[in-house]
Amino acid sequence: MATDEPLVLGIETSCDETGVGIVRGTELLADAVASSVEEHVRYGGVVPEVASRAHLEAMIPTVRRACEQAGVQLSDLDGIAVTAGPGLAGALLVGVAAAKAYSLALDTPLYGVNHLSAHVAVDLLEHGPLDEACIALLVSGGHSSILQVPVVGGQELTELGATLDDAAGEAFDKVARLLGLGFPGGPLIDRAAREGDPDAIAFPRGLTGPQDPAFAFSFSGLKTAVARWVEARQRAGEPVPLADVAASFQEAVVDVLSTKAIRAAREAGIDYLLLGGGVAANSRLRELTAQRCERAGIRLRVPRPQLCTDNGAMVAALGAQLVRAGATPSGLDIPADSSLPIVEVLV
Ligand code: KG4
Ligand code: ZN
Repeated sequence: MATDEPLVLGIETSCDETGVGIVRGTELLADAVASSVEEHVRYGGVVPEVASRAHLEAMIPTVRRACEQAGVQLSDLDGIAVTAGPGLAGALLVGVAAAKAYSLALDTPLYGVNHLSAHVAVDLLEHGPLDEACIALLVSGGHSSILQVPVVGGQELTELGATLDDAAGEAFDKVARLLGLGFPGGPLIDRAAREGDPDAIAFPRGLTGPQDPAFAFSFSGLKTAVARWVEARQRAGEPVPLADVAASFQEAVVDVLSTKAIRAAREAGIDYLLLGGGVAANSRLRELTAQRCERAGIRLRVPRPQLCTDNGAMVAALGAQLVRAGATPSGLDIPADSSLPIVEVLV
């Protein structure tokens, strides 16, 4: 990697992870994450005020840790990137305020970026530059979309479809709660499912009929179907086979996700499929999509699980591409926008 590539620090505080990453171009130099997840466990979900306070406490130590890991000084930076949205308003605000302060104090340009585009751009750190367009399946706790991306890390993208109700990660979290597995649900279902039979229960595949929109998702009917199935067992006084329910639910989600994403790539005549977002850490989604891509002749790019869930490196990765492309930096007056639209890559 040439040393004239931009050195960028990325700050991520949209949910319960205080992430600070440092990259040089597409080279990952540091990925420091302080999570407040333990503080939310007893509430069964992220409590925004608790998350904001934790970000405030973790921010400066996490920036220091990232600089130490990368062996760089703040004064070396060519840019400060920060998640400007979407996410929890108060949590975003802590990161945006910190990024503005660093930008002003260091006289370094600020880039307020979209969390969802950062989930896509992080793959560059794992697999290097991609010279072709790709379809991105973006699956997180708050969003599930299929995107057509001409340039990974660029400012153009088209949303081909999205969830009409729950996000994929939200479905994992809700089903884990109703199964009594705990929070956050995705990794717990992933683990429980390894002991179960994915074909044990035929849960519905939402929006897969011939008249349904090809690239939209719906997971709330699936969640209700799981709840009804479990209730029926309990009413009959029969034990609930947790591993089989987890495996069958997970299969229903990943089957629809991978089918639709591959179809999008085929129909657009695009050879690359990229997975991003916390649910892309799911072992079965990775396995099934890899098998199907191989059969379809599509090249799959999936970052390691640690880079799929929220982190600062992904924000730095997107920031570095924007610096490289000569994008106009953000003003110091940019807001933290909790409902930033997916197509607004740079604020
Ligand atoms: O991208 P992310 O870290 O945060 C948001 O932007 O929302 O995604 C978090 C979501 C949660 O719903 C979590 O349960 C899910 O990703 N998740 C998983 C796995 N790891 C995290 N879902 C399924 N399987 C996993 N292994
Ligand atoms: Zn995320």
